[in-house]
This record gives sequence, C-alpha cells and structure tokens, in this order.
Amino acid sequence: MSSRPPVQTPNDRIPPTDRLPTTLPQLIEKKRLGDPIVMVTAYDYPSARAAEAAGVDLVLVGDSAATTMLGYTGTTPVELDDMLVLARAVRRGMTTPLMVGDLPFGSYEVSDEQAISTALRMVKEAGCEAVKLEGGGEASVRRARAILGAGIPVMGHVGLTPQTSTALGGWKAQGRTAAKAARIADEALALQQAGCFAIVFEAIPSAVTEELMALMEIPVIGIGAGPATDGQVLVFHDLLGIRDGLGPRFVKRYANIQQEMNEGVSAYAEDVRSRRYPAPEHTYSIDPAELAELRSSLA
Ligand code: KIV
Repeated sequence: MSSRPPVQTPNDRIPPTDRLPTTLPQLIEKKRLGDPIVMVTAYDYPSARAAEAAGVDLVLVGDSAATTMLGYTGTTPVELDDMLVLARAVRRGMTTPLMVGDLPFGSYEVSDEQAISTALRMVKEAGCEAVKLEGGGEASVRRARAILGAGIPVMGHVGLTPQTSTALGGWKAQGRTAAKAARIADEALALQQAGCFAIVFEAIPSAVTEELMALMEIPVIGIGAGPATDGQVLVFHDLLGIRDGLGPRFVKRYANIQQEMNEGVSAYAEDVRSRRYPAPEHTYSIDPAELAELRSSLA
C-alpha cells in the first residue's frame, strides 16, 4: 500500500471564475489565430493565485524553483520530492491555467521506465496535467515518446537548457552560429515529431527563432527568444523582482517585491524594537469583571 499523500484538488478557498480551464486544443487554436499564449512559473499557493487572477493560459512549476525558492545557485540539485511539494501547493491555488510540471534533473534521464514513473508521480500526486523535460537530443526525445505513450502530454525545451548548462558552456544564449542554430532546429523538430504538445525556446537569437517558427506546427513558448514565438514565459520571481540583481537580459521587471519585502520586515523590526507594535488596535480585550476574578485567583 502506498503511503503517498493523495492529490488535494482546488477547494472553495478559490473564488469561482467564469473562465474554463485551458485545454490543449485551445493552445493550438491560439497559435492558429495568432493569439499570444501566456505562461508563467509558479511554485506555491500565492504565486498560483496570482497566475489564476491574471488569467494566464499555462503555469509551469519550473525546476527554477531550485534557485527562486530553495536558494541553490543552479537547477540541478532540486529533487523530485521537492517539486511534488511545490506542485501540490500550486494545484491548490488555481483551477484554470493548464498546469505543467518540470521534470527535475536526474528524474528522467536513466531510462524510459524512470521517466514514465516520474511523470506519473507529477500527475497522480501533484495534479499536473502535463510535464516538461529539457533537451532535444536522442535520449530526451526517446523519454518524451515514452511519457507520451503513457498518456501524459509533454512539453519540450530547447536552446538554453539550464539542467545541462555546464555542457552548453554556461548560462548563455544558444544557437549563435549557423551550425548550432541548425542543431536546435533538428531538436525542436524531433520533439515535435515525437508528439510534444508545445515547446519552450530559451535564450535563442530572435532572428533564429523567426527562421525556426516556419517549421513549427506546435505552439512555441519563448523565453529570451524574441517576439516571433506563439507565447512567452517568464519566471515569477524575475518579473516581480523577488531576487537580488536584475537577472537575465530578456527579463522585463514589473515590480520590485524583494525590496518591498525587505522594507516591510525592517519597518516591523523597528516597530517592535521601539515598542510601536503592537498598538491597542492589535490587541484583544477581556471583560473587566473577568479580569478582576482572574486577579483574585492569582493573588
Ligand atoms: O524552470 C523553469 O522556470 C523553466 C522556464 C524558464 C521555461 O524551465
């Protein structure tokens, strides 16, 4: 018997919405109509609530959680069990965006069986509706096919694939020579051919993306790949400024939440030290007669 916790589905803490959940055919239709697809990462209940409120199409529980949530300097250390905890919290926070779970490094490379078993856990234990894996080489394509064979939709990811960034020469743009761009094209086509429902292009020159888009029949979601893709994805913490430093060149920052958090906690600390907090409005009262009785009982 399994001791794993059951999937907890969204509950009545989530206000009703008129929007229906995103489906795979809707993504294809958006591509056909040229209607931009919006994807964002989320890693917990509040980030999922923000994605739901914004009406985004896709939410990725990205392995970027390794850096954004867990403080690692890269994505390789994050474990499947960590991803499952985060993905369950995201599931509880939203109903309409299609939820994609990132397969962490080491959880799908060993064999088709390992890949299927990991993808099944993301679906059964966390409520993911699809999974994403990195790379378009022979092994990644085989794993994508195996997972698809188990009935789980797969999103591909080519260009800068952070899990293998050491082998790629670091966190830097990919496909900047004709030969390297052609290799990305081959990988994207192989993943499309395998049956992936969509693909992420990360850190690729815009002009290369434009050439590749002519070949792509499935929705392409870009991050640092220019405006020609069918949609865009950004990391939640990057776009909201929940980080030190500006992050990669392609990030557009819409808020400065880390600074607001720092200022908020500093103001609280200052209030406690100066006894400005708690003020009378933050305290509870007791009936004077009850208080008098207490005093005499303590005397
Ligand atoms: O993990 C992640 O956040 C990602 C996106 C950058 C696409 O893979």
